[in-house]
Amino acid sequence: MTDDQETSDSEDTTASGSSTLPPPLRPQNERLQCHKSSVCSRSYFVVVMVFFHVYIINVIALLFYVHYISGQEDASPSRDAPSSDHNHRQQQQQQHQQHQQSTESRRPPSKAEFLRDVSLTRIEGIRVGHVQSVSLVPGKVHEMRTLSLKPLLFEIPGFLSDDECRVVMQLAQLKGLMESQLMVQDGQEELAKELNLSPEEIFNLLDINQDGQLQLHEILTHSRVRDGIWLTPENLREIYAGLKADKDGNGLLSLEEFRLLSNDAFQRFLLQRGVKRSQLVRNSRHTWLYQGKGAHQVLQDIKTRVTRLTRLPATLVDLSEPLQVVRYEEGGHYHAHHDSGPVYPETACTHTRLAANTSTPFETSCRYITVLFYLNSVEGGGETAFPVADNRTYDEVSLIQNDVDLLDTRRNCDKSNLRVKPTKGTAVFWYNYLSDGKGWVGEQDEYALHGGCVVTHGTKWVANKWINIDPDYQRQARYQHLVSRQPEEEEDDEGLTLNSDIQSSNIHQDL
Ligand code: OGA
Ligand code: CA
Ligand code: FE2
Repeated sequence: MTDDQETSDSEDTTASGSSTLPPPLRPQNERLQCHKSSVCSRSYFVVVMVFFHVYIINVIALLFYVHYISGQEDASPSRDAPSSDHNHRQQQQQQHQQHQQSTESRRPPSKAEFLRDVSLTRIEGIRVGHVQSVSLVPGKVHEMRTLSLKPLLFEIPGFLSDDECRVVMQLAQLKGLMESQLMVQDGQEELAKELNLSPEEIFNLLDINQDGQLQLHEILTHSRVRDGIWLTPENLREIYAGLKADKDGNGLLSLEEFRLLSNDAFQRFLLQRGVKRSQLVRNSRHTWLYQGKGAHQVLQDIKTRVTRLTRLPATLVDLSEPLQVVRYEEGGHYHAHHDSGPVYPETACTHTRLAANTSTPFETSCRYITVLFYLNSVEGGGETAFPVADNRTYDEVSLIQNDVDLLDTRRNCDKSNLRVKPTKGTAVFWYNYLSDGKGWVGEQDEYALHGGCVVTHGTKWVANKWINIDPDYQRQARYQHLVSRQPEEEEDDEGLTLNSDIQSSNIHQDL
């Protein structure tokens, strides 16, 4: 633009020299030319200087900005900012937060503090088959593969070393394993009495299609488990026959026939016939291993690694259930189930129940995440099945058809959408709840339904690490505050505030 002006100026000058121009213009032009050239050079200088200063000020402002931002990142944990010295930064974050927490935990939090903005990290699955590299132990990189998006499910081969697997199994054996499910559970009878419904009322509730007959699947959908016994369509037919309930033998029960199947009759029949282990919901033995201070180093290391893997605040992992170690003998299984219960306003979480100070009769495990470790490679069977993983829709009724029960992991694992083969050292983990969209735990994820397929050859060893979080943020906060007030525990007070996203740093990287 300045070049153009110059050109036109010089053209003007040439033009001004022409005698054809009208006389009044000439002196004006001459004055202009002279005036212009001197003023121009000064204005140039001014413009250049102004630009220069503005530029310098911008650079200084930018430097301040960068300094300020990096200062903030040190103080508050960053999630994805790439950093070569993330370990060092993590330590800084931890120290900073530990300091904050030890001061905070001395006084009861106000209501306003309970309402603070908290965000739980949720790892992104991207798509099935997506692989991200994660750094969980110094000098080693693990690959984490997305197995499904519904539920959000990942697999990490080599999460545990062979030695670690061996130590966990040995510690479990040393401690002793108990039956995961007792043969006949008490309390079912009482529950039936509490229900206080007449046979007509029960019949009506079960008769989903309201045709006045009970089909086998209508009974199984609601009475899948009787006294801890898993009922199959064949079992039911056998029971009908044994109790002579289905007089016409068509496999359907009328109301009259149903009356003959009172709770007592059902139970007496099952008891007198005897129950085999294979008929239980869960056919395994298990024990619990504490992972806190003073526990075997391998158990503590696993807990630290789980914290890094899930990128959740260390406190949440610390305050979760101990490690559950499970052993299935040949023929063992665990029918499809949810590790966690649904969220209703009147349901209390087992882990926060005391702190919550509620008297609701409903209680459930609130296990936000399940991390399942395979401690050995199984010779035959024993896969973990996810019957409805990544299904387009979730339809509870279609899970149990008259002859195909997708929840039955002794028979129908081959019909599951996804099966994970047990491989020594591999960990899988999934979210049992969705996000509430605000960084906290939301609804139960129905797609997280899973079970252990029957072991056809050899034994199967797994361990479960469940991370307990109450979907009710206030209850979780109150619980953590209560636990943090243990005397003489000040030094152990790591990450007691909920918004301490301590471990989150650049440990997950897309491949
Ligand atoms: C469990 C479970 C699956 C398996 O223990 O809750 O679902 O493969 N186990 O053993
Ligand atoms: Ca019916
Ligand atoms: Fe489970």
